[in-house]
Amino acid sequence: MEKNTLDTRLVNVEKISFEEKEEFSLRPSQWEDYIGQEQIKKNLDIFIKASKKRGECLDHILFFGPPGLGKTTLSYIIATQMGANIKVTAAPMIEKSGDLAAIMTNLAEGDILFIDEIHRLSPAIEEILYPAMEDFRLDIIIGSGPAAQTIKIDLPRFTLIGATTRAGMLSNPLRDRFGMNFRMEFYSVEELGLIIERAAKRFQKSIDEKSALEIAKRSRGTPRIALRLLKRVRDFSDVGNEKSISLVTTQYALNELGINTLGFDMLDLRYLEILRSAKGRPIGLSTIAAAMSEDEGTIEEAIEPYLLANGYIEKTAKGRIATNKIFNVLK
Ligand code: ADE
Repeated sequence: MEKNTLDTRLVNVEKISFEEKEEFSLRPSQWEDYIGQEQIKKNLDIFIKASKKRGECLDHILFFGPPGLGKTTLSYIIATQMGANIKVTAAPMIEKSGDLAAIMTNLAEGDILFIDEIHRLSPAIEEILYPAMEDFRLDIIIGSGPAAQTIKIDLPRFTLIGATTRAGMLSNPLRDRFGMNFRMEFYSVEELGLIIERAAKRFQKSIDEKSALEIAKRSRGTPRIALRLLKRVRDFSDVGNEKSISLVTTQYALNELGINTLGFDMLDLRYLEILRSAKGRPIGLSTIAAAMSEDEGTIEEAIEPYLLANGYIEKTAKGRIATNKIFNVLK
């Protein structure tokens, strides 16, 4: 069998560039169409209404949580609600202070600037961001040594929305400058079922509730995975000349794709097997990585978050331990 690496993994939660455009077209643009994250929606609704009532710009917002849970989508809806323009970028694209200055000086009053993976900004760029967030001012240093000059540029009032999968990697001064902090939660099976049904409608392909829930159960609480699996199931259904996606086809397709009934694939199962073989002793990340011939980052970012959030494993100072729950997965 082909080696199941992060890049080829169907349940990978990182964005795949060719999919981004299609994912975009499946995004809800209205509050009412955004399913789940109820507490966040309720709070944001109040803050948006309050700032509109006062005729002010919305305070800066930080979203954190695992990838694929709809941070960008939510930001677009906020922009619609505020009647504001949104500019979207990601920290790795902002390498030099000039990159950030170019983005900032092109903002108009009330605009929203969305920076994805904000934990990856360099310390030098963060320094420029602080006065911009606090006082809407850019302090740019030109030249070096005794001839260096600071140029101050006034900026229009804007809202920064930062998104991160690693809240712990954000520096304290940066985190403190966000007026709102929201942790995105994994979605319930029912919520994912609704997201799948709505997306299928936009594909103009019908799907019954049972089939939608079957995909939902195997989507690791993550809309991005649910939508990707839906597209693959639709392929099987179209080739089988089905008018409506059936449960039999859904189950067949997902099994063929190597996704088990809990949404685990070969990579997860290999990981859990290794922990089981340790019989309750903690195993270090580097040992697991060596046994799986995968790198540690892949394991930490792509395999462990869902297993941790759902109580299959625990992280201790000495390493990872499987809980009894893994016996539901490994027979
Ligand atoms: N597509 C991606 N995330 C979504 C959500 N939370 N609600 C509706 N559609 C979505």
